[in-house]
Amino acid sequence: MGTFIVLEGIDGAGKSTQAKLLKVWFEERGYEVVLTKEPTDTAFGRLIRRLVLTGGKEGIIDGAKISHEAEALLFAADRAEHVDKLIKPSLEAGKIVISDRYFYSSLAYQWARGLDLEWLIDLNRFAVRPDLVVLLDLPVKESMKRLRSRSIKSEFDRIYELQRRVRENYLKLAERFPEIKIVNALEDVDSVHRQIVALVEAILEEK
Ligand SMILES: Nc1ncnc2c1ncn2[C@@H]1O[C@H](COP(=O)(O)OP(=O)(O)OP(=O)(O)O)[C@@H](O)[C@H]1O
Ligand SMILES: [Mg+2]
Repeated sequence: MGTFIVLEGIDGAGKSTQAKLLKVWFEERGYEVVLTKEPTDTAFGRLIRRLVLTGGKEGIIDGAKISHEAEALLFAADRAEHVDKLIKPSLEAGKIVISDRYFYSSLAYQWARGLDLEWLIDLNRFAVRPDLVVLLDLPVKESMKRLRSRSIKSEFDRIYELQRRVRENYLKLAERFPEIKIVNALEDVDSVHRQIVALVEAILEEK
């Protein structure tokens, strides 16, 4: 079996930056790495981007936003395909799988939108549990500063209050899911990378 590592955190926390660095770290040590993300690049992921992340402008009915429940189900459908077609086969082939977001994002964001956490957890029960989930934690103000240079259309990014709740939710999830390890994402890129590598080395040793 391979090793499954997930990067989580609010928008702009540094997930994509760190995922790439971690991929290189593994490759330099001779591992075969699959770097992936959610929403995926499959038809389901594209549907999510079109219906949800555009703020519903191209929504199903006359630009109306889709319901929070429908949104959660779409993310879960995308994830089911992701797990079945990519994550499981890659782990079975002994590879390292690094995913930029996973079901913890659904829990943190959709719980913040008012959905029932237990329902969300049940809905995602099929999702194989990672060996390690790195939670990149930092104040929303700082993450917004980092994203300022980037033009962002998704409705998630615009709402400071939502991001604040999402951050809180992630921290609560870290108390519930022991695989979640909190990393201080306020530090510079290299220090954050070193924190992640220390966690990864501990996981590899355990295996
Ligand atoms: N430790 C850091 N210190 C300062 N800036 C950083 C740090 N890590 C990443 N950045 C910068 O912050 C911005 C957001 O980083 P990145 O795209 O990796 O975040 P993300 O978590 O993937 O965001 P999103 O959720 O929107 O995909 C980028 O411009 C990146 O270069
Ligand atoms: Mg990213």
